Amino acid sequence: MAIENKTETPGGHLSMLTALPPDPLLGLMAAFRADERVHKLDLGVGVYRDENGDTPIMTAVEKAEQKLLSLVSTKAYEGPRGNAEFCQVVCQKILGEDALTKTRRETLDAFATPGGCGALGLGVGFLKRLRPNAKVWVSNPSWPNHQKIVDVAGLTPAKYTYHRNENNDVDFEQLEHDLVASTAGDAVIIQGPCHNPTGLDLSVAQWKSLAKVIKDKNLFPFIDIAYQGFGAGLDEDMLGIRAFLDEVDEALVSYSCSKNFGLYRDRCGCLILQAATQEVRDAAGTHIADIARATYSMPPAHGPAIVATILADKDLTTEWLEELTMMRERMITLRSQFARELEKCGKPKTAATIRSEKGMFSLLPIKEGAAARLRRDHGIYLPASGRINIAGMTEEKISEAASVLASEVDE
Ligand code: LMR
Repeated sequence: MAIENKTETPGGHLSMLTALPPDPLLGLMAAFRADERVHKLDLGVGVYRDENGDTPIMTAVEKAEQKLLSLVSTKAYEGPRGNAEFCQVVCQKILGEDALTKTRRETLDAFATPGGCGALGLGVGFLKRLRPNAKVWVSNPSWPNHQKIVDVAGLTPAKYTYHRNENNDVDFEQLEHDLVASTAGDAVIIQGPCHNPTGLDLSVAQWKSLAKVIKDKNLFPFIDIAYQGFGAGLDEDMLGIRAFLDEVDEALVSYSCSKNFGLYRDRCGCLILQAATQEVRDAAGTHIADIARATYSMPPAHGPAIVATILADKDLTTEWLEELTMMRERMITLRSQFARELEKCGKPKTAATIRSEKGMFSLLPIKEGAAARLRRDHGIYLPASGRINIAGMTEEKISEAASVLASEVDE
């Protein structure tokens, strides 16, 4: 006899849900793809683009993939930490090869993760287990997904102000002032180089001051690195973070290879734990592994294998570095061209800000409703926040785009 499955609401259990608005960045990506206008311009989602608007596979990545095709002979499970060589090279890239002494290594644990976002999710899940009632402080403004990740983990997000002072530096006094409201045991997510969405970075001295604030207030730092090499160079971009990690005993670090290896769709990231002692590291690592196991069991293998293959091979490393440098320099050139054009259009203050920033993003002070108008009237795509992806510009379109954008800038 068939069991009658009665539901109390006419639409079934799911009828209590209302549809969410599209994700501010992924929704834009889909809308751009569907737009048939030839002259459209995507300044939305953070993906590196070349002069033709394409995101090609890096040649070092292509060669590493070919190498892997002949070398890899199994698809068997790797385990919750994923590729150990990958984890090691990511730690080296973050801390610097010389700093990765045996003693230091004994206080670190690392997990390959499904992208940088997977590392953030895993780390925040771990924070939830550590202190279920803690708040997680996120910069304001920030990448919109930071707050979502904290929400989904069931922790409470809180915000610290992250804006510029009159010298175009991070207003550290304001940041510190906001953290006065934090409670011991709260966590703080701090972005590494090329802050998303502002392009405004902490100086090395500010990273050191931040370490002091974190220690004085007994907070738990979580550093998010998604753009190493897009600012000033691989080592240059890590100077502040290295100084910070030297000062604090404990930290989590999430790392993304989406941008600097161009492995967006391969979902290649890493979560690193720094603990005060080896014993604490060992215990904490079992919890992170346990959460990974219950969430996605094991990370994807392909991206980490590519990164490990490149960095184990001198020629491929050189090739990757050359391409990364080329991408960075292209973004620096586009930044200064865009600033020049904005100046010509009578926006000197915004131009100076753009020049002082690093990486892919800048936040334009656009008028209310400007993003929708730019999209409707000019086929220029950017989120309502006014964030632009500098790499989405092309030399051919930059002058016209700057003049259209300048008409919507309120400075
Ligand atoms: C962005 O901020 O546009 C990128 O990090 C892509 C994403 O996942 O949002």
